Amino acid sequence: MKIDNVSFQGFRNLETQQIDLAPTLNVFCGDNAQGKTNLIESIYLCSLGRSPRTDNDKELVNWSCDNAVVRCNFSRKFGQLNVEVNLSKNKSKKLLLNGNLLPKVSQLLGNLNTVYFSPQEIKIVNQSPADRRHFLDVDLCQLDKNYFFALSRFKKALTQRNNLLKSESENLQDEVGVWDEQIAQEGATLILKRKEFCQQLKPFAQAVQSKISQGEELLNLHYLCCVEGDSHEQIATAYKKMLEDNFQSDVERGYTQNGCQRDDILLFVNGKDVKKYGSQGQQRTAALALKIAETQLFEQRTGESPILLLDDVLSELDSKRQKALLEFSNQLQIVLTACFLNKESLPKSTKIFKVEKGNVTIQEIL
Ligand SMILES: Nc1ncnc2c1ncn2[C@@H]1O[C@H](COP(=O)(O)OP(=O)(O)OP(=O)(O)O)[C@@H](O)[C@H]1O
Ligand SMILES: [Mg+2]
Repeated sequence: MKIDNVSFQGFRNLETQQIDLAPTLNVFCGDNAQGKTNLIESIYLCSLGRSPRTDNDKELVNWSCDNAVVRCNFSRKFGQLNVEVNLSKNKSKKLLLNGNLLPKVSQLLGNLNTVYFSPQEIKIVNQSPADRRHFLDVDLCQLDKNYFFALSRFKKALTQRNNLLKSESENLQDEVGVWDEQIAQEGATLILKRKEFCQQLKPFAQAVQSKISQGEELLNLHYLCCVEGDSHEQIATAYKKMLEDNFQSDVERGYTQNGCQRDDILLFVNGKDVKKYGSQGQQRTAALALKIAETQLFEQRTGESPILLLDDVLSELDSKRQKALLEFSNQLQIVLTACFLNKESLPKSTKIFKVEKGNVTIQEIL
């Protein structure tokens, strides 16, 4: 899919304007604090109905306005679509798809698919398991509505179990047992889908890592899971047993210690744990490889590639890696921001924009 244009009014520091994008690489360059990330954020908002930076929608409205509107027109195989997000400082946001009001944010998912990468995204590689699970959850929720629903049921059941564990109920074991069953069933669904996702992602991520590193680096990934088993039934049975076995120590601690809410993805470059031994550039490359692989997996599953949003990712990559990365714009639409531009890294047909005090102008089409 491709974004044709995006327009905004009262959004952050961006001036009221419409920006027409090229179907390949779009580069937004400018000094610090000019509005580059705000622009990427506006596209992300149309994709997922929320900001990648804040949960407070009011922050997105320009300080001197009461309302903001972001619109995005995009093309999919089956035709043109548009998303409109209305934000207000004193009302909750409204989402419209082709002019029709969407009662729930979840109904927006899967229309305009994006894969977002900011400097913080390196945490997928070098921070905690929670960051890697978040990566899985965000992607799978976009790809698979059943995952989204299973995840929200799982989270609710886990919260209920944890609340009970802290309570002084007399029938604690029986009451907790009710939630064990639901957690095991939903947990097994999440684990199976995560494992399948990692297996499918792996060959794509390996190919991307190899391309960006000019064949120097072999990436490997492995889903590290709390229980063993291949089928839903096997995993659910093992999961329930694990919860039952841990009941006493869970009561002592007051929360559920084990489960897929603690699972992880292990990442290796040339056989070494990239979190411990990878250089900054290798870690950045591995994180990018996962994200680009994600776009390719999306394409395989849905027949259409999502749009890749790259905020400020070039700075830690050498010029060979930058060039190899940006060549992916032959396969998918990329929106990229940067303070400095090395034009030699940019492929033909790149559209270069300048961002200055919230005003975006076309500078050059290569
Ligand atoms: N609600 C808002 N209303 C008006 N301006 C805002 C609002 N929120 C943020 N800004 C301003 O927008 C400006 C641009 O922010 P943005 O994060 O897009 O910068 P940037 O171009 O990505 O800079 P950098 O290169 O440092 O990342 C900032 O100076 C910020 O103070
Ligand atoms: Mg920025």
